Amino acid sequence: MLSNKVAIITGATKGIGKAISQLFCQSNAVVYGIGRNQDNLNELSELYHNFHPINADICDTSQTKNIFTSIYKEQGHIDILINNAGIMSDSLIGMISDEQIFNMFQTNVFSVIQFTQMASRFMKKQKSGSIINIASIIGVHGNAGQSVYSATKGAVISFTKSAAKELSSYGIRVNAIAPGIINTDLISNVPEDKLAKRISQIQLGRIGQPIDVANTALFLATDMSGYITGQIINVDGLAIL
Ligand SMILES: NC(=O)c1ccc[n+]([C@@H]2O[C@H](COP(=O)([O-])OP(=O)(O)OC[C@H]3O[C@@H](n4cnc5c(N)ncnc54)[C@H](OP(=O)(O)O)[C@@H]3O)[C@@H](O)[C@H]2O)c1
Repeated sequence: MLSNKVAIITGATKGIGKAISQLFCQSNAVVYGIGRNQDNLNELSELYHNFHPINADICDTSQTKNIFTSIYKEQGHIDILINNAGIMSDSLIGMISDEQIFNMFQTNVFSVIQFTQMASRFMKKQKSGSIINIASIIGVHGNAGQSVYSATKGAVISFTKSAAKELSSYGIRVNAIAPGIINTDLISNVPEDKLAKRISQIQLGRIGQPIDVANTALFLATDMSGYITGQIINVDGLAIL
């Protein structure tokens, strides 16, 4: 489904980003996966000849600024950007450190804006592209103990809507996926009772898997969603929060 498409995926080394990378490789895309864990990057390169590992910290612009230029020079086009990498660090209001605020905003928001800017420069030239941001249903509904995380994801949602309006005349679509609770390392620190409560709120009766999000990303990356932009698609099994 993605033959000859060039995709850049942040946070490709595990969880949702790894599932998207695998599905896109299986769909014949040329995938450039960004992450910091070299062993995990190597694992994907060994599995898929069309996976190109990039070991970089998305918050370090000195490492990321040339990524898009080099890929464009190598491939001649950049078709898909998945802004997936993200971090979550919970604290109650009154206990939140400046470091938590800065780190979450830098990873979850600043990098999304910076990567969108870099990708759109090339996508504008070719008059096509699909940008997919991974937000969260917490960015819509909020959650106690997650005020900063929810603020970062709310920012991703509003950025997605504005970017879609601004870039539509260049043929660039911008959408977001808002996952519910997905079975990855990100939720490994959530206390068992809280996790059980969250799962009990899911109408489809199960926790989400990374492939559930990857399948939606594949749809948004292909021309099957060619008339869809500026949308936030919940992938949450209908969580009633
Ligand atoms: N899991 C959920 O329940 C859930 C729900 C809603 C939304 N989400 C969102 O989905 C996205 C993926 O989450 P996940 O559950 O797959 O998390 P995860 O398993 O913890 O994976 C996070 C990924 O982000 C990468 N990453 C983090 N900071 C980075 C940085 N500074 N530079 C480069 N890469 C960085 C990590 O790579 P390295 O470790 O190799 O650097 C890793 O590949 C996040 O945006 C998250 O907020 C998740």
